[in-house]
Amino acid sequence: MSMLDPIIPHMKSLHVAMLLIWCAGLFALPLMLARHDPAIGQADYARIRRATHYAYAFFITPAAVIAIASGTGLIFLRGVFVTWLFAKLVFVAALVGFHVWIGYVLVDVAEREGIHKAPRPFLPLLVLLLPVTCILILVLAKPDLGQIPLPGWLQQPLGNQLPFDVPKR
Ligand code: HEM
Repeated sequence: MSMLDPIIPHMKSLHVAMLLIWCAGLFALPLMLARHDPAIGQADYARIRRATHYAYAFFITPAAVIAIASGTGLIFLRGVFVTWLFAKLVFVAALVGFHVWIGYVLVDVAEREGIHKAPRPFLPLLVLLLPVTCILILVLAKPDLGQIPLPGWLQQPLGNQLPFDVPKR
């Protein structure tokens, strides 16, 4: 047992709390963006625009950063250098991509000149469901996926020199 083991439950609670905010936010934002319609009137438009902007900048993005940081900490605390974890990270990368795309749409719809309409939310939400479901299945079932197949030369030291000079202090 390591000295840091008592931290694990706290780190895991932090991880789960933050990823709940992150994922809930990723589902909510496309719906909020779809309401960015000038037809709802100036006051309501300003309200939804401010709510979306603040939610993205002050809640959902920080929650994503903390979820990823605490998850990274958990890798080392739990010593899970296993295939399901790496498979999970591929889907987490998809979530990060979705997050960035929403940020792009947000700026486009609310801050760039010209007429920009937010996409209809149905398809983005359907797409988002895929990585979230896969992540939850992987992390909760922890399936034994075996080894990641790698070519032999990547799995053993070959004793070669680097093709360039390494700066020395
Ligand atoms: C870079 C991002 C992430 C990293 C590095 C990461 C890593 C980890 C690690 C190492 C654990 C502990 C597993 C164990 O104790 O065996 C964990 C737990 C968990 N993660 Fe993540 N995670 C990340 C993002 C996410 C996301 C986006 C979700 C959900 C959509 C998620 C859902 C969970 C859940 C539900 C648990 C608790 C499962 C359990 O221990 O039984 N994680 N994560």
